[in-house]
Amino acid sequence: MNLTIIGTGYVGLISGACFAEFGYQTVCVDKDQNRIDELNQSKCPFYEPGIEDLLNKHLNKTKLLSFSNSLAESVKDADIIFITVGTPSKRLEGDADLSFVWDVARQISQNIKKYCLIVTKSTVPVGTTKQVKQIILENIHEENFDVVSNPEFLREGSAIDDFMRPDRVVIGCENQKSESLIKELYRPLNLNETPIVSTSIETSEIIKYASNSFLATKISFINQVADLSEKVGANIQDVAKGMGIDKRIGSKFLHAGPGYGGSCFPKDVKAFINTAKKHNVDFSILNAVDSFNDRRVSEITNKIISKSNLNKGDTATILGLSFKPNTDDVRDSTSIKIAKILNTKGINIKCYDPEAMPNAKKENAFLTLCDDSYAACNNSKAIIIGTEWNEFRALDLKKIINNKNKLCIFDLRNIYNPKELQELGFNYFGTGT
Ligand code: UDX
Repeated sequence: MNLTIIGTGYVGLISGACFAEFGYQTVCVDKDQNRIDELNQSKCPFYEPGIEDLLNKHLNKTKLLSFSNSLAESVKDADIIFITVGTPSKRLEGDADLSFVWDVARQISQNIKKYCLIVTKSTVPVGTTKQVKQIILENIHEENFDVVSNPEFLREGSAIDDFMRPDRVVIGCENQKSESLIKELYRPLNLNETPIVSTSIETSEIIKYASNSFLATKISFINQVADLSEKVGANIQDVAKGMGIDKRIGSKFLHAGPGYGGSCFPKDVKAFINTAKKHNVDFSILNAVDSFNDRRVSEITNKIISKSNLNKGDTATILGLSFKPNTDDVRDSTSIKIAKILNTKGINIKCYDPEAMPNAKKENAFLTLCDDSYAACNNSKAIIIGTEWNEFRALDLKKIINNKNKLCIFDLRNIYNPKELQELGFNYFGTGT
């Protein structure tokens, strides 16, 4: 089976490398020649544990993986073509911008030479896959292709494992022929008895948005309960533990923090709300999840300023700039949002992140990047742990505490024990603890 993946972002590149790992001849296409040149040297444009080894193995050893910036050439022999281009939020309405999807669908229809599947793997609003079909029908007769929805459930930082050992594969098909072919593609997962949810195209598209939106709802819910816990002296980590043991609730995505960020949850929640609005359906729950999350960062930053009495000219430290650990992605990072608000108030920001500093600095020149956590904390009035990188969990805090005054530490991800830090002399603030 020959596969063509169009778009080499997180979804496309991880999918291409993993399909090669399954043993399929796979070509990944991108219109950015510089990116293709980098990929041909097994250099990944973003940090993702394990990806460069996988690229190197299949580019140079098995030769199952190749990269090209010619879509026309790359779709000719394809049996299955994946559309994995970006679907960013439109600035104002929050709707998904599908212009890249339409453009790629048009180019595919002008260049395919034999029957193939065209699969939307990017996160696309319900109805998009059928609209892709309409675009292709402008150039190709109906019996010479089928469209399929096959959304991804990859988390940055664990994307390869999520692809190779998914909880489920979701496929949306219109007929038996396309369903059999896409199921054949995922046969290597049968060894792990991975459930395949085979349904209609619209249902598959909804499953993706509903899944991400539900996870975002869990996060906003536990964050609201954390705010109440703080007021009444309860411990949100024990609350989450007591809830999560109930199998109907589950312990995942109940970690209180500064709110959800990244390139998916914020955009997917807003796009799902927009879809409901278009169909005049009451999505007041998700609206509340979204607006609460949008407000959270400024509320937390105001608390940081007031509790540590930060004034213009003071210095604050932020440990962790990426939106979550094990990635260099700073898109919609709560740490960066906090830094921006502090910067507007004339507070100097010293920071350290194991991977994300180059990306963070690109659009935030005001950040003072430091070589390690200790340098970042030196001479600071307030320390903010914004992202729960493992290396922040075992800092030698005695090297940080300065006896001049009770140094404030804002452990936004609750990685430390409040009592231990108070005994060390810190003015400790967790989230809901
Ligand atoms: C998410 C979905 O998990 C994945 O299935 C989908 O394909 C893409 O979007 P990702 O955005 O990489 O993956 O990160 P994720 O680990 O889901 O975290 C998203 C945000 O929620 C991060 O900002 C994280 O800090 C936050 N989060 C996560 C919490 O605040 N609390 C939690 O308990 C879990």
